[in-house]
Amino acid sequence: MDSQTTYNYKVVRQFTVMTVVWGIVGMLVGVFIAAELVWPQLGMGVPWLSFGRLRPLHTNAVIFAFGGSALFATSYYVVQRTCQARLFSDKLAAFTFWGWTLVIISAVITLPLGITTSKEYAELEWPIDILITVVWVSYAIVFFGTIMKRKVKHIYVANWFFGAFILTVAVLHVVNSAALPVSLTKSYSVYPGAIDAMVQWWYGHNAVGFFLTAGFLGMMYYFVPKQAGRPVYSYRLSVVHFWSLISTYMWAGPHHLHYTALPVWTQSLGMVFSLILLAPSWGGMINGIMTLSGAWHKLRDDPILKFMIVSLSFYGMSTFEGPMMAIKTVNALSHYTDWTIGHVHSGALGWVAMVSIGSIYFLIPKLFDREQMYSIKMIDWHFWMSTIGVVLYIVSMWIAGIMQGLMWRAVNDDGTLTYSFVESLQATYPYYFVRFLGGALFFSGMLLMAWNVTKTISGARPADTPVPQAA
Ligand code: HEM
Ligand code: HEM
Repeated sequence: MDSQTTYNYKVVRQFTVMTVVWGIVGMLVGVFIAAELVWPQLGMGVPWLSFGRLRPLHTNAVIFAFGGSALFATSYYVVQRTCQARLFSDKLAAFTFWGWTLVIISAVITLPLGITTSKEYAELEWPIDILITVVWVSYAIVFFGTIMKRKVKHIYVANWFFGAFILTVAVLHVVNSAALPVSLTKSYSVYPGAIDAMVQWWYGHNAVGFFLTAGFLGMMYYFVPKQAGRPVYSYRLSVVHFWSLISTYMWAGPHHLHYTALPVWTQSLGMVFSLILLAPSWGGMINGIMTLSGAWHKLRDDPILKFMIVSLSFYGMSTFEGPMMAIKTVNALSHYTDWTIGHVHSGALGWVAMVSIGSIYFLIPKLFDREQMYSIKMIDWHFWMSTIGVVLYIVSMWIAGIMQGLMWRAVNDDGTLTYSFVESLQATYPYYFVRFLGGALFFSGMLLMAWNVTKTISGARPADTPVPQAA
């Protein structure tokens, strides 16, 4: 029997295609809000086009719709291939696809209407939270059920990362979303004051650590060796990487709350654990990049591999920057500035989006029984547009952020502030424009991807010569 019938590829295909669709939607909203920061009148006074309402729509769409679909697609593919077993239940897997789609559509409707819990990355109101819980538990059953019925003894390391991501996100979501509903569209957190902030950033930081990192590391451990046609650099390092990463991430959340009402020792603990986090993060990055040792030449003409290796470089960069920003004295400058936004997108665009794009290009021909993508040249174009786009985005935000931090703390001899807030905003406009250009370029690359994916699925004859690919 061929792999198309042995394995459940239907749900993988659905999530794979939706990754591209939601990527385009989420990034389009990102480009729009970036434009609103350059031309504030763009929303024309329409409430649901305002920056405040569209910003959470952007974050939810890119993290949970785009990133989430990429994670569902790749974890379902990888768990089947590495366990040599079909998904535990086709029906439950189909439910996770339609349930997740319903969650996303609910977000697309409620967030622009201003219905929100106002907890960052957990804005959705309680009925949607309950739906998320049901879908997530089903996801866990499908994933771990497949591991249970595996035909090989060994559990490949990618599944460890996917498994940790699924379990942790379940715990984070349930604990942080605990709330008292007062109506269908309004609820209040059960946690008071500073405890609420603490729980929120324990959630928020681990959402970064497990949703935006552990799951994507699972992706790395399968797709980088596959595309490079080489075994993972060090299996031993991958095991150390796994345990050290998951045990450190849990404690770093308070770095989001430096100089707040949180006890000082908690802030210092968050800082120290953030500094320690550099080691496992870099261990993982090195393991991914060194998988290419002896095969570096493949980077020259394989744009899919380029996406993957450059994504790992951005991962290394953002996990160096993060610990630095967690140092209290550095955070005193960076907090509230666009430096944070630059850091976010070097992780989100450079790492999360680029490793997902690489993996999706790997998957599409396999899932739709095609020899290769319709156009390899187009992937190369996409790669350069993405890379230049990210660089424009993050460099402009670094400069803007450090400039803002310095302007806000500048004082005259008599102790008065040298600059008003508006002056710092005026000085930021050129950088907001460059960020808009970078975002627009990254977004245009996604349109190119959509065209290439459509042509591949429709069975168009490849437009250019094949690149040797791993099976
Ligand atoms: C075309 C690509 C993108 C553009 C133009 C873009 C633009 C933006 C803008 C303008 C903001 C608001 C910044 C502010 O409040 O000052 C933002 C926030 C954010 N974006 Fe994006 N974005 C893009 C892609 C992504 C992707 C792919 C992800 C995640 C996978 C992402 C995650 C986030 C997050 C987490 C925030 C909130 C940051 C914070 O609160 O510190 N973005 N984005
Ligand atoms: C060793 C790893 C990392 C550490 C120690 C770290 C540390 C930090 C610090 C100190 C902040 C600023 C907090 C503030 O001043 O408000 C921050 C913000 C953020 N980081 Fe990281 N970071 C790491 C990796 C990453 C990666 C890989 C991503 C994305 C994939 C990411 C996404 C974010 C987001 C979304 C925020 C903004 C949160 C918000 O205020 O809304 N981080 N990180």
